[in-house]
Amino acid sequence: MTDKKNLRTPIVCVMGHVDHGKTTLLDKIRGTAIVRGEAGAITQHIGATEVPIDAIVDKLGDPRLRDHFIVPGLLFIDTPGHHAFTTLRSRGGALADLAIVVVDINEGFKPQTYESLQILKRFKTPFVVVANKIDRIGGWVSQKDLPFAATFKKQSYDVQAMLETKLYEVIGELYNQGFAAERYDRVTNFQKMLGVVPVSAVTGEGIPDVLMVLLGLTQKFLEANLQYSAKGPGVGTVLEVKEEKGLGATLDVILYDGTLKKGDTVVIGSLGEPIQTKVRALLKPRELSEIRYESKFQQVNKVTAAAGVKISAPGLEGALAGSPIRVATEENLDEIVAQVKSEIDEVRIDTGSVGILIKADTLGSLEALVHEFRKDEVPIRKAEVGDISHRDAIEASTVEDPLYSVLIGFNVKVHPDARDFLQESTVKVLTSDVIYRLVEDYQKYVKEQQE
Ligand code: GTP
Ligand code: MG
Repeated sequence: MTDKKNLRTPIVCVMGHVDHGKTTLLDKIRGTAIVRGEAGAITQHIGATEVPIDAIVDKLGDPRLRDHFIVPGLLFIDTPGHHAFTTLRSRGGALADLAIVVVDINEGFKPQTYESLQILKRFKTPFVVVANKIDRIGGWVSQKDLPFAATFKKQSYDVQAMLETKLYEVIGELYNQGFAAERYDRVTNFQKMLGVVPVSAVTGEGIPDVLMVLLGLTQKFLEANLQYSAKGPGVGTVLEVKEEKGLGATLDVILYDGTLKKGDTVVIGSLGEPIQTKVRALLKPRELSEIRYESKFQQVNKVTAAAGVKISAPGLEGALAGSPIRVATEENLDEIVAQVKSEIDEVRIDTGSVGILIKADTLGSLEALVHEFRKDEVPIRKAEVGDISHRDAIEASTVEDPLYSVLIGFNVKVHPDARDFLQESTVKVLTSDVIYRLVEDYQKYVKEQQE
């Protein structure tokens, strides 16, 4: 059997459309785990929550399962709306080991549902689909915290039929997106088929089932990926660059490998040369609440993967969300700087030739956009993180071919001077907070031009 001590906590990203219930689902997993989990405290991280395996097994209701699972717990990352991309990048691959895609069973698929699926497909991340808000199905009689099969049995025939109808709409949509899927308890081979778990994040119905499927996926897919050395140098991804009162610019980071210590030299991606700085303080949330709403932190001397942590250090202002952060030593500093630089350059393009201009809010979203446009063989003149500036506007206007005199903006602002300039110009500006909408809008624009 695998040595448990050498497995790190799998990172689970919760994705899906706005308001479909990602945060509520996490709250429920966390909340019920706290209530029931004498077995072990839930640890709050920056931008993430760690639920220890004992608390999860406790929810599954069969203690014999404990020996069956080899991971120390699960680290859940909530990705608010459009931030899905930021949080997914690591070494040009997926930050998440696993994912949950939440879809409101009554509303069905929405733009960010499709988007989540595309990303997961691209990175080949194993995931489970949660068909949420089953308590809103007309006539549903809620059975607090029960597993799905138990609550389903208690519903009337009509309600059961309604749930199945809605569920198969979700399954049909998944099929259209290229995924074979089934209600999770009808899946015989999770390597070939996606499981869909009907859930209510509010009443807790179906939550034990979600945890069970997640643990099943870790066992099947991840064992090899989770082997790591806690002694190795820390490697992580920057989730956000945030101003904190009294601290200046800080980084919210998910550490996915190794150890990060106070005083360590770290290298972080920026728009120019990578930032080199020394960790002044490592901060964790003080209590069991999401860091986004938290103002008080607790200092720690070191963190070990997988974990979320806030880093305070001098000179973090220019750091890029979505970029890598790596611990360096005196001996390998140059090497690490070069490595971080090449990781950033992989995404940024500056060819100076004919093509569209792309601006995005994070490295992760930029990478996804570049990937999509390249897939369609659309030439790109420049792709960069940041708002649309006056310079970008001028640059786009110098492109003569109207098909490429285009500025694409994902989750970015248009500077006022750029806006003034663009109003007078023939540059086509497309902005959105949905990547696939930008791609579609561009295709539509091209069609119009060609008619
Ligand atoms: P963003 O972070 O904005 O992307 O949204 P989200 O996906 O995190 O959704 P959130 O958890 O904030 O839920 C949105 C609304 O739906 C809230 O009012 C929740 O109370 C409600 N909600 C979430 N899950 C359920 C559910 O299972 N049943 C019912 N009835 N309401 C739910
Ligand atoms: Mg949320």
